[in-house]
Amino acid sequence: MAHLSESAVKQIGEIISRYENEKTPLMMILSDIQREYGYIPLDVQEFISDKTGIPVAEIYGVVTFYSFFSLTPKGKYVIGVCLGTACYVKGSQQVIDKFAELLHIQPGQTTEDGLFTLDALRCIGACGIAPALTINGKVYPKVSVADVQKIVEEYKSLGGAN
Ligand code: FES
Repeated sequence: MAHLSESAVKQIGEIISRYENEKTPLMMILSDIQREYGYIPLDVQEFISDKTGIPVAEIYGVVTFYSFFSLTPKGKYVIGVCLGTACYVKGSQQVIDKFAELLHIQPGQTTEDGLFTLDALRCIGACGIAPALTINGKVYPKVSVADVQKIVEEYKSLGGAN
């Protein structure tokens, strides 16, 4: 692959080989690549296609359909605001709008400093604590617009440190 580094080819090749005996390996391959490589750009999709024989168009269709797959690198902190029905009726649209306002990005985008990605999610199975959001997998229950600034400040204070 012309565009992929040697280490990327090795890492992604290893992920693909985990599922060589699966009849429909695509979702598993993409999930592992998203989690371990961080994103699934076009040259990675072409590489998967070369290795598996699955057409690039099919891979691209799956990557762009599901919001947890990303074509571009995600931020250090991925904020996923649930816009499912239960959360929506309890004000999650206002919550995501507040994040967008404070971070100067739209859902699906990442801040220039690479710190935050804002995603709109469908029901995350936490309707009892609506409106809910997740940050890197940690669930925040009953979030109000008034909480948003505090949450952003908290993660900004952690900054780029690990
Ligand atoms: S609708 Fe948000 S958790 Fe179910």
